[in-house]
Amino acid sequence: MRILKVLLAAVLIQTVFSLECITGSLRQDKLQIGYQPITVEQCDTNVTACFSFYHNDGTHFTYKLGCDISGLCLTSNGCSLTADPGRQCCCDTSSCVYQNATQPLTFSLPSNFAFSTATAAYQIEGGAFADGKGPSIWDIYTRKPNKIRNNDTGDIACDSYNQWEKDIQNIKDLHINEYRFSISWTRVLPYGTNDVVNQKGVDYYNKILDALNSANINPVVTIFHWDLPQAFQERGGFLNPNIIELYGNYSRFLFQTFGSKVQKWVTINEPLSIVKYEYCGEAVIHAPGEFREHCDWMVYQAGHNILLCHSKAAEIYNNEFRATQNGQIGITISGTWMFPESASKDDTDACERGYQFDWGWWANPVFNGSADFLGVNYYRSLKARNRNSDEYTWFSGYKLALDSGIVTDYDPNWEIISWISVVPQGLRSLLNKFKTEYGNKPILITENGIMDTENDIGFQDNTRIRYLRGHLAAISQAINEDGVNVIGYTLWSLMDNFEWTDGYSTKFGIYSVDFNSPNRTRVAKASATFYKNIINSKIVPGFSTIGDE
Ligand code: BGC
Repeated sequence: MRILKVLLAAVLIQTVFSLECITGSLRQDKLQIGYQPITVEQCDTNVTACFSFYHNDGTHFTYKLGCDISGLCLTSNGCSLTADPGRQCCCDTSSCVYQNATQPLTFSLPSNFAFSTATAAYQIEGGAFADGKGPSIWDIYTRKPNKIRNNDTGDIACDSYNQWEKDIQNIKDLHINEYRFSISWTRVLPYGTNDVVNQKGVDYYNKILDALNSANINPVVTIFHWDLPQAFQERGGFLNPNIIELYGNYSRFLFQTFGSKVQKWVTINEPLSIVKYEYCGEAVIHAPGEFREHCDWMVYQAGHNILLCHSKAAEIYNNEFRATQNGQIGITISGTWMFPESASKDDTDACERGYQFDWGWWANPVFNGSADFLGVNYYRSLKARNRNSDEYTWFSGYKLALDSGIVTDYDPNWEIISWISVVPQGLRSLLNKFKTEYGNKPILITENGIMDTENDIGFQDNTRIRYLRGHLAAISQAINEDGVNVIGYTLWSLMDNFEWTDGYSTKFGIYSVDFNSPNRTRVAKASATFYKNIINSKIVPGFSTIGDE
């Protein structure tokens, strides 16, 4: 009896005097999101502190609260913080992660930051031969058998030529500030030259521009997103220097026709992809698809003329239109960020060469008065190392890999989805590199996004949500912690569309499109709501609370 009383008293004392801690955890890693609801726990009597732990490297998020059974909090004197991006905190109270245990780290974006989403003409419009439109190289290339997965073509695509009002409605629903789309050269100028104008094509873009402007959404217009007039391809495309004048005239036509309605122009989308996949394509071949054998010299010839096309358009804008239209002009460049495979000088030098071949080639020459901002498309990072002279590197666009003297590969620790590696910190590093190289000129992220994966069920596209969260958090860090001048973010893409050689099988949209229905029905995926919440709050949540994914 006496023993029982003592035992009872001990239990009572423990219940009364043992520490109470909030416990719970949330973990989000490659494939899963795990969540244990937050509860209050009575700790063992020997526990003298609660702990909280928060780690966020942009891709993986871990958040834990609980009783400090291991006793680490004592050794770290109650509370310790590790350097960002990992954060660990032990406290003798139950609220200490970042201000408040129930409100962990968030990433803010500036109040004037522009949120946007993007498409490109050939990928969404369809109406490939409607109302007097002339053929582009993609209209011709997609007719060749077995070039595109399932022999898909952009003949109908998302049918945005007819369904554009639905697109505008979806764009409005997102509350975005800008919308990036491209003009189909041969829809407005069927033969490419200014002597024949297709008024119906002009009307089409006027309707879109008017609808955007009246909804207070700034159009960001890409002058050229790969759909070169077939007529010019037959005369050599970007290999023929006469393209500079032809492209200049086309740009002048756009400035004249639409310039009063457009404040941001992007001259060329991704010169690197053009030279790599059109003129050097091996694994990935883009229209017109005939030049692989001549890659060695063509890659540089085409690149040179593309840069001159850009500067011709900028010169025309500066001399003839800037005073009255007062808009901005930039170019959109793309590539990978490269992390050195080792800390050796050879490998860090290799990464620098890799940077110059991917990005510097295009970015170095444009801040001479021919660009107000740098448009940046970022999808992935790679590991790079020095290439030994006897090593052959197989790579699409191999000529550039050979000449830059580097070997690239994915890091097995990264999440790899098709050709994309999910590495938000690579974007942060890239943005910092631009800041150092070009005197902190304005940077507009003109594309970033990922395809649906088999882990996404229905419209619940968690992979994309995680990708967006990580990259937007990295951009927030680049702006707020590193002082990089990033002015906006554009998500690729508004909706599933014709994904070049992958046809319709690869889906990048935050709206799904039913390509089997004649209406091409659009339905918002979960990422559209996730993105909209960020746009409304300008806050990127460090992780989700239950229910938002
Ligand atoms: C292009 C887009 C394309 C996206 C995803 C970018 O390189 O500009 O047209 O759909 O990547 O592959």
